[in-house]
Amino acid sequence: MKVKVGIIGCGTIARLGHALWYKENPNAELVAAADPNEKHLDKFSRSFKIGKSYKDPMDLIESGEIDAVSICSPHWAHCEQVLASVKRGIHVLVEKPMAVSMDECDVIGDAVNSVKTVFQVASQKRFELTHQKIKEALENGEIGVPFQASIYWYHYIPDLSTGLIRGTLNLFKKLGIDLEENLGAWRLTDARAGGGDLMDHLPHYYDLFRFWLGEPEHVSAEISRVYPGRVHEDHGIITIKYKSGAIGLVERSQDVKGRPFGEERGHVHGTSGSIYWDAPHEYTLKPVKLQKYSGTNIITNKRSPLLVPGNFRKSRAYKRQADMFIARIMNQPEIVDFPAKWVPGYEDGRAHVEGVIAAYMSALQRKKIELPLKKSVYQGLHFDFEHLLPPLKQQK
Ligand SMILES: NC(=O)c1ccc[n+]([C@@H]2O[C@H](COP(=O)([O-])OP(=O)(O)OC[C@H]3O[C@@H](n4cnc5c(N)ncnc54)[C@H](O)[C@@H]3O)[C@@H](O)[C@H]2O)c1
Repeated sequence: MKVKVGIIGCGTIARLGHALWYKENPNAELVAAADPNEKHLDKFSRSFKIGKSYKDPMDLIESGEIDAVSICSPHWAHCEQVLASVKRGIHVLVEKPMAVSMDECDVIGDAVNSVKTVFQVASQKRFELTHQKIKEALENGEIGVPFQASIYWYHYIPDLSTGLIRGTLNLFKKLGIDLEENLGAWRLTDARAGGGDLMDHLPHYYDLFRFWLGEPEHVSAEISRVYPGRVHEDHGIITIKYKSGAIGLVERSQDVKGRPFGEERGHVHGTSGSIYWDAPHEYTLKPVKLQKYSGTNIITNKRSPLLVPGNFRKSRAYKRQADMFIARIMNQPEIVDFPAKWVPGYEDGRAHVEGVIAAYMSALQRKKIELPLKKSVYQGLHFDFEHLLPPLKQQK
């Protein structure tokens, strides 16, 4: 019997990170989709030949037609849709960030910890074959004791609020084409997102570094709103100190001009060597490049086995994520070639939201933030980004 899957939110990640891979999985059947935007829903349902479509995601959840769901809606809708799905006994794969506040995380925790259905958070960087090789290398002591992990991750999204870009967007809108909606501009312009670039991107490397280096102890951050058209921060630098003593550094931006698909380069330094990786844009089908240096700085693994043609699809993080989700539902995680204990669940989803909230607290309250966050600190917490982050000033 195939696992009957539904998808909520039919945008970019639903297409590239979920639907494609359910379609390839012999044990899954993509049977239904939901999206309040009828154009997105129709296009998605037609391109993946999905039989049932719902404008209201709650109708899909209540339909009784699905065993499992991928929740790919904007951040603010995740909590409500997770709760309704879990209550209905549906297995859940929810996109990051799992929720937009710690309060929401706690409510989700109460729900998922009282059921036996599969609950998985889409921190898919853990599923990337290269990242799993690094995990193994660290566990095997191949670079000694790790003392630093860093990532430099940039994209460029122009300010949509002014000039030629605004004019072009308005023109297309008049012609009936809403480019902002089609390209997910809500992440730049909608306060419901709960945060800006860090809410969107920090969960990935906060999760991966925690997977590699263990529990964080405290977080410090600086954030900026480089373009006044954004409602939240669009650039940030975060340092994380781990209980092991290691340091993590995440440099993230939506404002850096450069290669068309941005930059995503990182390294882990250990007492007897270093590992460097250079990731292509995650929506492409290229492998992550991996290099390992020994103590004498000789490249020991310049041509990673992961660069061998044919391994490309096997290394796809999104495919491996979907395959593991379905295998866990079937109670056969062993059919996927990595341990089920590596799969990010509720505690991991909560940890990455905690990391984002701690980074905002650090930057906006100008202090180092100790973890774990106390409930008395995060309860009802709200950040006034527009007020606290004035636009950049040109130095005269
Ligand atoms: N894991 C990853 O690599 C990755 C990559 C991109 C996005 N994401 C996450 O996936 C989510 C969606 O991002 P995206 O880039 O696909 O956005 P998107 O704008 O491309 O797609 C979102 C879709 O959700 C629909 N939608 C809006 N409100 C909704 C609601 N209340 N319920 C259901 N659907 C609703 C929109 O009409 C749109 O079709 C975000 O939380 C984002 O952080 C994860």
